[in-house]
Amino acid sequence: MIALEPRTATSVKSIARPAGAALALLTVMLWTPSVHAYKWYDNGSGTGCVSCHTGFVGGNGPLHLQHRTRFGVVTCNLCHQNGGGTKPVLTYWSGPGGGYGCAGCHGQDYGETSPTSGFPKATSYGLRLVHVANGVTACGPSGCHQPGALGAPDPFPTLYGENVPPPYYNPMFSQLTDPCSSQQEDLPFDADSVGLDNDGNGAADYPADSNCPPPPTPTATPTPGISCGMAPAQGCIASGKGSLLVDEKKPGKERLDVTLGKLQAAVTPGEFGDPVTGTTAYALCIYDALDQLAGQYPLVRAGATCNGKPCWKLAAKKHYVYTDKYATAAGIAQAKLSSGATGKGKIKIKGKNTSNQLPTGVTTALLQNQSQVTVQVVSSNAACFSLDVTKVKKADGSIFKAAGP
Ligand code: HEC
Ligand code: HEC
Ligand code: HEC
Repeated sequence: MIALEPRTATSVKSIARPAGAALALLTVMLWTPSVHAYKWYDNGSGTGCVSCHTGFVGGNGPLHLQHRTRFGVVTCNLCHQNGGGTKPVLTYWSGPGGGYGCAGCHGQDYGETSPTSGFPKATSYGLRLVHVANGVTACGPSGCHQPGALGAPDPFPTLYGENVPPPYYNPMFSQLTDPCSSQQEDLPFDADSVGLDNDGNGAADYPADSNCPPPPTPTATPTPGISCGMAPAQGCIASGKGSLLVDEKKPGKERLDVTLGKLQAAVTPGEFGDPVTGTTAYALCIYDALDQLAGQYPLVRAGATCNGKPCWKLAAKKHYVYTDKYATAAGIAQAKLSSGATGKGKIKIKGKNTSNQLPTGVTTALLQNQSQVTVQVVSSNAACFSLDVTKVKKADGSIFKAAGP
């Protein structure tokens, strides 16, 4: 076996436990007997899922951007082994904070163990069926994925239905929660408007797949917890003067600097909720000129401790102040939510890539050449705040700097 398995199991501390050879999927290269499965997106010589799906190449293809932003992924290790950009990207395993690799969304945990690594793993039985149904049969009915072959169970387990959420369909990892929802799953750039056929039975999502229960009647108000909407929130308190800087010029020294000043309403501390004795969580959300989500920075630290002290405190003049010198939550090091009379309220947020937590590599790329950007600070149980920056000073793909409105 040319298995490329996690080298040192013990060095890996994932939130999820390591998942095994999940997407061992296709052998289109049957004439190369040693290649029996796709363990990598790209094995370094162009073999892997990349043979047919090139959209992740270089970390800036459409699949890369859209996977990151549409599904609200903030942890690069959902796919990468050791932070954003590390290669190879394995289909079945990834580093701390993730663990399951691509299989976290494209597979299911059937309680199996990888024969090569001995790790528990998830498997993409459904995705294999999708490929077979699309004529990619080299490794399907007649090839390597046979019950009992290469450590596969015999018989194969009964497939989970479309309605069973894969491991990463969980707010801990992404904004995906419902495998039956085309609204959540569909990537706008592909031809159809449905999401994944998770169980590979030829029918995707509600109402096509009979496993899928009718969705609950949609409600306009977002559910508690925190994530940025796919489009800017409405009804937010506007900022009369502010700025946005996303600076990724020096790798490892990326910075984020946001000001939403001159808030156009009288703002009491209550408008910010209560992150000190209450539960208020925040997210900084950045949208491009077409109102598409380009970046998000969740700050879910109500009552949490930073460097031995409460991260949040209510300072003099009724300002909520957040300080985390290690910038462990989405790279945010400082936040100040200042209340005040109309025109006096202000929000300032600063981020830096101290502990490799600041989402990087994506926001600036998506904001390249944008002429207008919307910056919002949304909260789990209080008001939201919004700023349009239209005076763009730099948008070259590594720095985005603008002020507004
Ligand atoms: C030989 C070409 C080929 C290879 C290699 C390949 N795929 Fe595909 N894949 C296809 C085709 C064809 C389709 C169906 C048409 C489409 O949706 O684009 C497809 C569809 C998909 C879909 C959409 C499934 C759905 O329910 O809509 C996903 C996800 C996917 N492939 C992932 C992968 C992953 C992960 C790998 C590597 C382990 C991989 N593919 C390798 C050809 C390939
Ligand atoms: C959904 C899975 C996924 C997520 C999440 C993800 N990536 Fe990637 N990334 C990939 C794949 C696949 C590649 C292509 C790897 C290859 O070519 O071997 C890649 C490649 C890259 C590359 C190019 C590496 C190179 O040398 O060619 C960069 C940079 C990158 N990613 C950064 C990031 C950052 C930063 C994050 C988190 C903010 C992130 N990625 C999150 C899947 C992902
Ligand atoms: C956070 C969950 C998540 C992760 C992790 C993830 N995917 Fe996806 N992926 C999706 C969803 C949801 C879709 C469905 C898009 C649609 O049907 O419009 C998708 C679609 C795709 C497609 C099909 C795009 C098309 O043309 O419709 C490919 C190929 C793909 N993913 C490959 C990968 C690879 C390779 C990895 C690992 C590097 C990966 N995905 C990791 C959720 C994920």
